[in-house]
Amino acid sequence: MSKLNSIQNTVLSSVRSMIGAEPADVVAALKNDHDSLREFIGTLKDTSEDMSVRRRAYSQFVDLLKSHSVAEEQAVYKESMKFTGRELHVKVEEGFVEHRVCDDLIERIESETDPLIWGAHCNVLAEILEHHLKEEEDDLFPMIREKATPEQNMDMLVEFMSLRAETQKIVTEKNSGALGKM
Ligand SMILES: [Fe+2]
Ligand SMILES: [Fe+2]
Repeated sequence: MSKLNSIQNTVLSSVRSMIGAEPADVVAALKNDHDSLREFIGTLKDTSEDMSVRRRAYSQFVDLLKSHSVAEEQAVYKESMKFTGRELHVKVEEGFVEHRVCDDLIERIESETDPLIWGAHCNVLAEILEHHLKEEEDDLFPMIREKATPEQNMDMLVEFMSLRAETQKIVTEKNSGALGKM
């Protein structure tokens, strides 16, 4: 085993233990997060659910979404722009735009005090995100799997999981601090 492979394996095993997942490649790692995000989306869109439950779900959902999006942009979108193919580049740029639309909605949600308007914004965020996850999975990810060599795919996986572990750690510390004050 080369020194680089050995370092990659060490990084992967430590981040796997932090995230609790063992994806086979970078697309599988991205889809793991998408599945978790979809579980939260169900609760966020359920208007019959108690507001305190929806707010709690939103808090965990938005932390995961931010951590996922930052790592996805750094480790996957930016690397994918180095591959050839106009269609791929168009899809990556669309992904960046959709992330910014979600950022704008998150900003509005976090400054909203009216529960009705807060819920309306949450529904729209959930719907935009559902569309975004589906587009990535149906259009973008197959192109990435096709264009990336096994080594490039592994490099993206290592970077994505390292960034996810890093941002997840910040989020966990932030949440435990908040809970400590309650
Ligand atoms: Fe995304
Ligand atoms: Fe994604």
